[in-house]
Amino acid sequence: MATTHRGHIYHIAGAPLVTQAAEHLAVFPDGALVVDDEGIIQWCGDWTALPEEHAGADVVDHHGAFILPGFVDTHMHFPQVWCGDSYGGGQLLEWLDYCIFPSESKLEDPEYARIAAVEWIDRMVTAGTTNALVFGSAFPHAQDFLFEEARSRGIRLVSGTGIQTVGPDSASRLIVSEATAVEHVRNEIEKWHPLDAETRRHSLQSVSVVPRFSLAVTPTTLAALGEVYDHYRDAGVYFTSHLNENARTGTGETDTVKAQYQVNSYLDTYDGKFLPGSQVGGKSFLGPRSVMAHAVHCLDSELARMAETRTSIAHCPVSQLFLGSGTMPWKRTVAAGVNIAIGSDFGGGDEWFVPQMLNACFKVHISERTPVGIDPYPTDDQSLSLHPAELLFTGTLAGARALDLEDRTGNFDVGKEADFVILDPSHWDMYDKTLRGMHKPDDPIRARDAYLFAVIMLAREKALTGTYVRGRKLETSSSAERMGA
Ligand code: GUN
Ligand code: ZN
Repeated sequence: MATTHRGHIYHIAGAPLVTQAAEHLAVFPDGALVVDDEGIIQWCGDWTALPEEHAGADVVDHHGAFILPGFVDTHMHFPQVWCGDSYGGGQLLEWLDYCIFPSESKLEDPEYARIAAVEWIDRMVTAGTTNALVFGSAFPHAQDFLFEEARSRGIRLVSGTGIQTVGPDSASRLIVSEATAVEHVRNEIEKWHPLDAETRRHSLQSVSVVPRFSLAVTPTTLAALGEVYDHYRDAGVYFTSHLNENARTGTGETDTVKAQYQVNSYLDTYDGKFLPGSQVGGKSFLGPRSVMAHAVHCLDSELARMAETRTSIAHCPVSQLFLGSGTMPWKRTVAAGVNIAIGSDFGGGDEWFVPQMLNACFKVHISERTPVGIDPYPTDDQSLSLHPAELLFTGTLAGARALDLEDRTGNFDVGKEADFVILDPSHWDMYDKTLRGMHKPDDPIRARDAYLFAVIMLAREKALTGTYVRGRKLETSSSAERMGA
């Protein structure tokens, strides 16, 4: 028996570029989303136009609530589950040293790691994040807990052991030898990745190769991991890492990478060109299942190379504000043709809820100024007012695209798997009253856009009443059980 979810539906239909999102915005104020028993979308449209063949389906009436595609968070850190708002006394590298490496080391304790995994999946469900690319722990037992929990709850997840083969003393518990790093990655892929095509078509979880960033590994680690990646690439294994996040002059991450590797660009280190002078030393990690986090300080050549290889960017505005990293230049990056999806970077970011990341995204780009020294854009005013459909796209369909799952999820096109969330304004008075009381322009398109803008920008987690993956409503575990109370 199919189920029809009735409510105010929004999604970005088809497969547009971000610049085409407004033309692809589908809105059904009294809408119907018909989902079959396998969790596949049979129909989406106006309730009054529901075809006769679906009239007999069970109806779940989400009266007064919004039905949106499930949120996709393309960059977050599992071992930082309790790190949000850690005071590091500095920017990225100080924060890693003082707060993050010691915190992540705590997952060496299996009981701590088990509780962290339960909490992680609970947080995703509570935030309506139906799919995420998750930087993993250095400890394989912690990764096992995470995958087990994701599998038993039925949530989508791509993750991989966070690899570090070099680093400061504070990271000593996280650092492994190159041989061990390769062994961990291989074991994780063999254990948790759907290696054959048929299993992959139905699977919700996958594995990624995850060197923490170029400063946490060496050219020989990158060469060894590149061999592993190349071996499994065609089986749909992912790659993710950080790129050009923090560029504080002289001591920032970007300059340090270039100085240590003596390469022309940071991206070269992930593109097999990690030897001095950007000579080729191994296999490239770039491709349609590769996601680079941040990309705040990229050269035009790096953006062009990401576009060419269909590598996506996880844009993490909340984290970039927190760590003083600047912001990814929206216009330049879009003009270069790179797919941009949203990421929390939790615990660099302190926000789990994708609409709040989209809220920050809007604010940083309407205030955007080009960082000094990036040519050929000498003018510093890069301000733009992102369209609400572009925001919705960035938090949903762009994420599915970044994870190479656009054929299966990301919007409500017929035949896709039904990942969606319910946002109910009656659960938050200010949201409810604003949406009722706000000025509604006479022009229907302006009214539509203004309303969707408010739906996204004002949304808070407390209004989220349902998270569905493949048509199934996900539950959180009891918080008492999870904290051992
Ligand atoms: N670069 C290397 N590691 C990290 C991390 O844990 N968080 C962020 N934001 N950047 C990183
Ligand atoms: Zn990160």
